Parts: sequence; C-alpha cells; structure tokens
Amino acid sequence: MKVLILTSGGDAPGMNKVISVLYKKFKENLYACKEGFKGLINNEICKVEVFEPKRYENEAGSCIKCSRCPEFKTKKYFNKALENAKQFDYVVVLGGNGSFKGCNDLTQNGVKTVFIPSTIDNDVEISDYSQGFDTAVNACVSYIKNTMPTIEAFKRCCIFEVMGRNCDKIAKEVQKYVSCDLIISNENDINYKKFAEIINENYKKEKATSIIIKERIIDINQFIINLKKYTSNVEIRGVIVGYLQRGTKPTAKELFYAKNFAKKAVGIIKENKRSGAIIFKNNCFQII
Ligand code: F6P
Repeated sequence: MKVLILTSGGDAPGMNKVISVLYKKFKENLYACKEGFKGLINNEICKVEVFEPKRYENEAGSCIKCSRCPEFKTKKYFNKALENAKQFDYVVVLGGNGSFKGCNDLTQNGVKTVFIPSTIDNDVEISDYSQGFDTAVNACVSYIKNTMPTIEAFKRCCIFEVMGRNCDKIAKEVQKYVSCDLIISNENDINYKKFAEIINENYKKEKATSIIIKERIIDINQFIINLKKYTSNVEIRGVIVGYLQRGTKPTAKELFYAKNFAKKAVGIIKENKRSGAIIFKNNCFQII
C-alpha cells in the first residue's frame, strides 16, 4: 500500500498533526509531495520520514511545504500530475475549496483520494469545520486582548485587520470574544462619518475604540487616512494581524480535530474504501 500526502494552498495549523498521524500508521509507505500540487506536477515526491513529521506534529505550518498552484488547472500540467499520482494507492489532499476541486479532478480520472478540509478561513463548503480556524481565531483574540490595554491607556483607536480571502468567518468569530466597537466585513459596511462619531464619542468619555476589518476590503492605511478626515485629535493606529493567524501553535481543540480527521482518513485507506472527503458536520466527523 503506497500512500501520498500533499498540503495545498495556505498552510493551516493542524496539517502537521495529520501528517504525523498518517506517518505513524503507514511509516515507510507514506510519501509526500513537496509543495502541494506543484510537487505532484514535477514529481518531487519522497518518503515522509525525510521531513521529520514527528518533530513537527504539534507545530503550525506544513513540514512537507505548501504552494498555490494555478498550473494544476491546465490540461498539460494536470496530466503530468495525474501520471505521477497514479503510482499511489491513495492520494491524501489537505487544503481549501480550490484543493478540493483539484482532488476531485484526480478522483474523476481514476486516482483514489482522501480530502481533509484545511484552511484557516473555514470556508470549505462541504464541512462545518476546516482545520486551522480555531487556532487563527484564538491568535487574533489573544493579539487584540493583549494590544487593547495600551490602546486604552492612550485613548487611541486601533484598527485590526484579520485574514479571510473570500470569507469573513474569522472576523465574525473574533468579534464574539473581544468587545470591539465595530466590525467591517464587507465594503458596504464602511461609513466614515458614523465611525468617526463613535471614535470621537469614546475619546470624550476617555475610552479607546477598536475596529476589526476583514482583509482585502480596503488598504488599512488608506482607511485610516479617510477616517482621519472626520475624527478630532484621536490617534488612530492600524495593525495587520497577519501570519500570526497561520503560524501560531495549534490549539488543543485544533489538535483534536486534526487527530480525528486523520483517523478517518486512515480508516478509508486501511479498509481500501472508495475515495472520500472527511468532514465535520452536525458535531461529528463523517466521510462523504
Ligand atoms: O489560507 C487562507 C489565507 O490565509 C487567507 O485568509 C488569505 O487571504 C490568504 O491565505 C493569504 O495567502 P498568502 O499567504 O499566499 O498571501
């Protein structure tokens, strides 16, 4: 039984745990594609043990490396990848929606696959949970909670930009745990005059203001320039929470999800079942 694993798209905390659980089961029969689908195209494949999976099992990132690989969508490169994938009994793909599509394309062309939703954005349509989300949310919450005392001390306003390419789930979840004054999760939410009133009012009451903004809505510096046109003497600072969201050590809950995703994947492979995706739906781990 030869099993191949790859991590595709943005890395997500929990990926290393899955790799390590699979390694413990399949040992020298587990192979890795370096840098996701890119490695599959270029046949950059080697035994997982080379990447020391046990050493990284509780760390964020991916010891077998990730990449975004638009070439995989083209017929020429897909066929190269397909040829390489066919050397294996199963290909395990960890990634988001784009990677799920890539995984399905392999399945439809005769490769047995297992997909595990892995993106901090938590926007994989088939699953209620994608690994990485809990860690990303916790990283933001802790960042904001540890920043606000100093913002409070100066009665400043702080804008926190959080990740989410096409999706505002991180922003909305973080808001539940920090008492921020405003959340901007799409362009239509922006009303500088209204924001300025809140900021000025807070300042008068000797209070700070915190605003969460989802990435890719507006450049944070431009946002501050526009806001300053309406605010009085309040100092406004902007911070991009950034890769802390992906690079933070997986939370205990994350490791629990990763372990269960991995166990189901092992089940499919050991029992030689048909291709499947592991999802978390209605509070349980399922195979579809
Ligand atoms: O992996 C998801 C994500 O973190 C998105 O939230 C974000 O838009 C994107 O990746 C950033 O990707 P990159 O690190 O390639 O710039």
